[in-house]
Amino acid sequence: MKKRILSGIQPSGQLHLGNYAGAIRQFVEMQGEYEVYVFVASYHALTSTRDPEVLGNNIRQIVIDYIAFGLDPKQANIYLQHDVPQVTELSWILSCVCPKHMMDKATSYKDKTAKGLAASIGLYTYPILQAADILSVDPDFVPVGEDQIQHIEITRDLAQKFNHHYGEVFKLPAHRIRADAGVLPGLDGEKMSKSYGNTIDPFMPEKKLRKLLNKIVTDSTPMEDPKEPETCTVYKIFKAIAGSDDQRTVDLANQYRAGGMGYGHAKKALADLILDHFGDARKRREELMADPGYVEKVLADGAAAAREKVGEVTERARKAVGL
Ligand code: TYM
Repeated sequence: MKKRILSGIQPSGQLHLGNYAGAIRQFVEMQGEYEVYVFVASYHALTSTRDPEVLGNNIRQIVIDYIAFGLDPKQANIYLQHDVPQVTELSWILSCVCPKHMMDKATSYKDKTAKGLAASIGLYTYPILQAADILSVDPDFVPVGEDQIQHIEITRDLAQKFNHHYGEVFKLPAHRIRADAGVLPGLDGEKMSKSYGNTIDPFMPEKKLRKLLNKIVTDSTPMEDPKEPETCTVYKIFKAIAGSDDQRTVDLANQYRAGGMGYGHAKKALADLILDHFGDARKRREELMADPGYVEKVLADGAAAAREKVGEVTERARKAVGL
């Protein structure tokens, strides 16, 4: 039997290269070999998005982009979190075995409120809903970027707590990080993140994309001098997309070290790489945007498959607690 993976992304803005490098690329690489559940974390996005129209557009766009990036609806169950209401039921059941101190320890609440997000109960208990997302389909692995590791650890802790009290109901999943990915930096060298306004959208029109990449912050080493690639944001992004063993990455590193190459050249190489790497995705996205009926059908099929699996797990949990 195939092993299973599950992951999700919040519809809180346009997807960016960090989401691709840390998460989506893994989903695409693992489909076929694994049974895939990928969803849009719409309820999670309510912790940060209060404009209904914006939320609706973001949700639709993420689904289109998942498919454009290469997720194949024939091999992956793609669904919306709010189309599978048993997940929120599980979330409540889990919240009743979750000690408050477990949430106090979670770093994302502290980080997000420090950045000005409203300190709601939803934001505080966010990791419990994420645990429910994960445990609801019995996955073996959760492919994510490094910033999500703590959430997967909380998920395992909660599952263990529940199982300890009620018997073996939940399967313990493991996180999966892509070797080459790490934390992808954004334009300013900090972690690429929607909330830092430093993201790169690989679907941008070419001219805008080239202009944006010129804004990547680099140091002031003169053109003629040798440069260190590994500390340069332009190179780090290039390496994450092309791969560290790729000849183009090796060549670019050599150009850095040889001297005589300006950062403008490296930025142009990065723009060319992005346009090449995402060429098919960019085309597919245009086609998908023009076919809303297809996207609806994908979501209806995905929700039906998810409801079946999640229903099974929820039934197990209900029985175990005496409902
Ligand atoms: P979110 O929406 O912030 O990010 C989605 C995925 O993208 C990865 N990521 C990155 N990876 C590398 N470098 C970066 N700069 C970068 N920025 C983002 C994230 O690690 C993540 O894998 N809580 C989750 C959403 C969620 C979820 C789940 C994930 C809800 N339920 C269940 C997995 C399983 C989040 O906010 O991800």
